[in-house]
Amino acid sequence: MTAPTVAPACTLVLFGAAGDLVKRLLIPSIYDLMVSGVLDPAFRIIGVDRAELGDEAWRRSLNDALHQMVADPAAEFNAGSIREDVWQDLGGRLTYQRGDITLDETYQALAGRIAGSAIFYCAVAGRFFGPIADGLGKAGLLQETPTAFRRLVVEKPFGDDLASARALDDKILGWAKEPQIYRIDHFLGKETVQAILALRFANRIFEPLWSNAHLDHVQITAAEVLGVEGRGSFYERAGALRDMVPNHLFQILAMVAMEPPKDLGEQAVRDAKGEVLAAVQPVKPGDMVRGQYAAGTVNGTPRVAYREEPGVDPHSRTETYAAIRLAIATPRWTGVPFYLRTGKRLAAHRTEIVLQFKPSAHPIFGEPHDANRLTLHIDGDKGLRTDFQIKAPGPGMALAPVAETFRHDDFFEHVPNIGYESLLYACMMGDASLFQRADAIEAPWRSVEPVLEAWKTGEPDLYAAGSAGPASADALLSRDGRAWASLQPEPDGRAGRRMADGAAA
Ligand code: BG6
Repeated sequence: MTAPTVAPACTLVLFGAAGDLVKRLLIPSIYDLMVSGVLDPAFRIIGVDRAELGDEAWRRSLNDALHQMVADPAAEFNAGSIREDVWQDLGGRLTYQRGDITLDETYQALAGRIAGSAIFYCAVAGRFFGPIADGLGKAGLLQETPTAFRRLVVEKPFGDDLASARALDDKILGWAKEPQIYRIDHFLGKETVQAILALRFANRIFEPLWSNAHLDHVQITAAEVLGVEGRGSFYERAGALRDMVPNHLFQILAMVAMEPPKDLGEQAVRDAKGEVLAAVQPVKPGDMVRGQYAAGTVNGTPRVAYREEPGVDPHSRTETYAAIRLAIATPRWTGVPFYLRTGKRLAAHRTEIVLQFKPSAHPIFGEPHDANRLTLHIDGDKGLRTDFQIKAPGPGMALAPVAETFRHDDFFEHVPNIGYESLLYACMMGDASLFQRADAIEAPWRSVEPVLEAWKTGEPDLYAAGSAGPASADALLSRDGRAWASLQPEPDGRAGRRMADGAAA
């Protein structure tokens, strides 16, 4: 394997330097990039925040956080241990600038410290994206030269609805050109999401089946056991739909549903995604379900109701669960519903895509089992599982469901990866294919607009923490004669295979 190219030297400016995203995800990802040796010796980082910190105190807080995370098996950062030499090198590149991101003077001070290429990363709440673009623009910090790039990374949520997303785009595009804008969706940094393209278009065994000729429906699930984890005041305004659906889940949908791009170039991939997202129809009135978790028990631990979480209104109507049914108006997908669901405090942590095939066209074996399905596991036990039916050993022809599982970790060496590494590296390299163009942001907002409108009034359906969500979500599928894939752990695919082998022997 050839060594990856070292990214061009630049200054990375982190707005929101004292915040959770920087501590939990960005600095650990930069640490991982340092270990991979892809950062230029002149790469450096300036953290900007209002918190009363100096260079040393900021460095120390990041170092402490890295050590805490590396010892926590549940943390995203899974480097195993912190290499002192790498930390010393990284720490020496970090400086802190105390400043209010709504004030021009912050950007003037920044301008005095930056020469050459720079990436400005908005790791702050969405309401600050516009003021940051204004501040950078007025200070001339977004002006590129033939030898220096200036890029702006914008986190999600990009707007609260279609109108605000457009307004934010207009504002940013007033100061920067489209190729300078990197709208991030960290799901696109996940190896398993990027792998969907390879699975579909590098293998002849899947793609020919990937359409309404053979598929009954598709389910996309992002179920979490976590609650709002101290982000109550953010979540109160966002809710499950805005937090997860028009961004993360629609990005997965685009990977599953897009037509083959002409090539793997940035433009072709983004065009193909843009086309399928534009074909997703607005959600119909009966095709949406919202829920909110009540008290319950998750994995044996009692959990309070959402309304009792810190920072949450005791009468909150905010949804912590959302499910929708979507139709995609393309020749490939007409007649194949896509069911999307996401929620907090559910029975299991599961991010997966289920492709449910139609029953056999000529069912000589009678009623099918719960099989005939391909499941792509995006997180956790990453990989792919096929559920199918086979003759059960013994006299006569009886069918038994069996499963075969591909586990990522059985084939590939574990490389510490949070997901932001590939995104940060791509941004430094000027490769926007893993970032969203404005059309990929606007189309999903347009599709979910009827949901946002409908949910301005009324109440979410309650579900017990630790359950699979509200009963109304089950009804969304059962009225179509379908059911959600279980959130309970699946029987092991390979153990299933051994059982069948053993029985045959
Ligand atoms: C974030 C949401 O964008 O994605 C969180 O704001 C959510 O609420 C998270 O928990 C899920 O990401 P992941 O990578 O942990 O599945």
